[in-house]
Amino acid sequence: MPHKNDKLLLRALRGETLERPPFWFMRQAGRYLPEYRETRAQAGDFLDLCYRPDLAEEVTLQPIRRYGMDAAILFADILLVPQGLGQHVEFRAGEGPVLEPITRNADIPVLDAERLHETLGPVYETVARLSKSLPENVALIGFAGAPWTVATYMVEGGGSKDYPTIKNWAFADPENFQRLIDVVADATALYLKKQIEAGAEAVQLFDTWAMALPPAFHERLVFGPLRRIAEAIHADHPDIPVIGFPRGIGAAYAQAARIRGIAGLSIDWSMDPSWAAEHVQPHLTVQGNLDPRLVVAGGEVMTRAASDILDTLGDGPFIFNLGHGFVPETPPEHVAELAELVKGWRRG
Ligand code: CP3
Repeated sequence: MPHKNDKLLLRALRGETLERPPFWFMRQAGRYLPEYRETRAQAGDFLDLCYRPDLAEEVTLQPIRRYGMDAAILFADILLVPQGLGQHVEFRAGEGPVLEPITRNADIPVLDAERLHETLGPVYETVARLSKSLPENVALIGFAGAPWTVATYMVEGGGSKDYPTIKNWAFADPENFQRLIDVVADATALYLKKQIEAGAEAVQLFDTWAMALPPAFHERLVFGPLRRIAEAIHADHPDIPVIGFPRGIGAAYAQAARIRGIAGLSIDWSMDPSWAAEHVQPHLTVQGNLDPRLVVAGGEVMTRAASDILDTLGDGPFIFNLGHGFVPETPPEHVAELAELVKGWRRG
């Protein structure tokens, strides 16, 4: 019987170069799959789906059944942590997330661990169920949003184009703003530790809006919080790999690659794989980075780009993935073709 630690994803995150890299896809569970849309309709509200362990388990497993990825990512959302901190969050059809915005120092939430775990308890149950129901070779990834990205939603009250309110707060009143980042970081560390205790074997931190910050602020608002969360996790769980995804930071990925305690770095689709092979892969495991729009297009333009990524990064520690999540219009049969291509690739 294979040992738990032999899973390809975990071997890659320990720095091994494999005959073929493990693969999974960001947003692999989601609206491009008809069976997801069916379960989603059954749940009604998106947040109800996140908080129903039986349904969240089911949608996590759906892409694994179809495509046989090497890892499943827990089905949940990055905006559950603000809810666990007591903020009002809702998802409106066609509009995305809407939060009651916090914009003043006096509104910075206080971390109440009991309330956090009470709110997020169903997520831990989803993880526990998955760790029993997943095929034995499939690794289970837990996740959370990184503090900066989560804070953009908390402060702007939803998605934003230019981040006017949060950037002014972060730039004009850095000390108080840091209190918000630290509260979110500490809540996130507690949340991820519970996911790990329930069975998550690796965790990823999504910093989707890291690209909104000038490089001089990366250390304080992106890399620092990532290090703080990784340290808190490793104090209790030294062997659990942490993957960072600071999206859109360009050449600063070379600095991100040197963050102590990070086992993997997910690079977005704007990065040249050969640059990443030179500047990122010598330090840790690279994950990425096919443009999800290439999977919408499919055919040769997709397979050529995927093969190029594999040929360029497959000679070192590597996890094949997208450079951002699947979009709802992705044809499921293009995903099947991509999965077969990765499964059939071998180091040359
Ligand atoms: O398969 C998986 O990747 C696991 C589940 C997952 C979801 N969201 C489910 C989801 C993960 C890892 C996320 C992360 C997430 N959520 C991020 C970071 C990654 C990224 O995509 O940049 C962010 C910024 C969010 C916040 C969020 N959630 C927004 C802005 C929206 C609305 C826009 C959209 O894409 O629909 C969501 C909703 C959401 N989260 C859906 C899913 C499957 C779609 C909701 C629906 O079914 O109606």
